[in-house]
Amino acid sequence: MSNRFLLVDKQERFAVVTINRPDKLNALNTATVEELQETMQSLEADENIRCIVLTGAGEKAFVAGADISELNGLDAKEAEKYARRGQAVFRYIEEMKTPVVAAVNGFALGGGCELALACHIRIAASGARFGLPEINLGLLPGYGGTQRLPRAIGLSNAIYHILTADMISAARAYEMGLVTEVIENEELAERATAVAKKISGQAPIAVGYILEAIYKGIETDIDSGLNIEAGKFGAICDTEDMKEGTSAFLEKRKPDFKGK
Ligand code: COA
Repeated sequence: MSNRFLLVDKQERFAVVTINRPDKLNALNTATVEELQETMQSLEADENIRCIVLTGAGEKAFVAGADISELNGLDAKEAEKYARRGQAVFRYIEEMKTPVVAAVNGFALGGGCELALACHIRIAASGARFGLPEINLGLLPGYGGTQRLPRAIGLSNAIYHILTADMISAARAYEMGLVTEVIENEELAERATAVAKKISGQAPIAVGYILEAIYKGIETDIDSGLNIEAGKFGAICDTEDMKEGTSAFLEKRKPDFKGK
């Protein structure tokens, strides 16, 4: 896989994907969105990779949005297609069985905020800033922002931030539950790596089932959600990793999960 706008660093059991257009604050042009899809697909298919860290190159931005220069000339039909394609890529990420940790190292605006929202865990550098400023361009969020921001921070806060375009500081993002923690800028990469290492030591089939149960369950009623959970609980008990995890506990040793 040869990438123009992404850097992929495979480590033992996890990978770090860096969006690499720092001179444009890592703005998502069409090529970057396509590379993101191909890269995530290929990492998900790699059974040695059990967690992914997604971050932005440079000190200023995670991703400062969709590339505004590409939006300028779109007609209605093209724009809808453009939104649907980005939505599909972000939905793909959200539905991956391999968890993606967004290490938000700076501006996460527009498509950047939407990309972070499609990741499973978000960790912010203290200088990070989130926002959906599309309204300032006479636009609206088109890569899932109107759907995922309210789910993440509640209706009232989401409506306020989408209509005013006011940015959300890292500290406020933490208060609202948009990120799990805020880390000093220079320590973000190390912390995100530590989280990825921890998750990549867990039983990968269980990790995938947990994500599936949570994401499917949250969109349905409690009884249907419990039904999904029970089905997954049954299925996980058929795995070698479940036998290994429970045996390791009883034998007072660390489990070695093989993903089987
Ligand atoms: N699309 C295309 N290019 C972008 C971009 C975007 N979303 N965000 C930043 N850039 C480019 C700038 O045009 C500039 O390019 P240039 O050096 O060739 O002129 C470069 O990145 C640096 O950005 P700049 O605006 O000079 O940095 P800044 O520190 O003054 O401001 C931001 C930072 C994030 C506040 C500002 O870049 C911004 O508002 N970006 C757009 C955010 C947005 O509306 N996103 C939603 C898009 S739908």
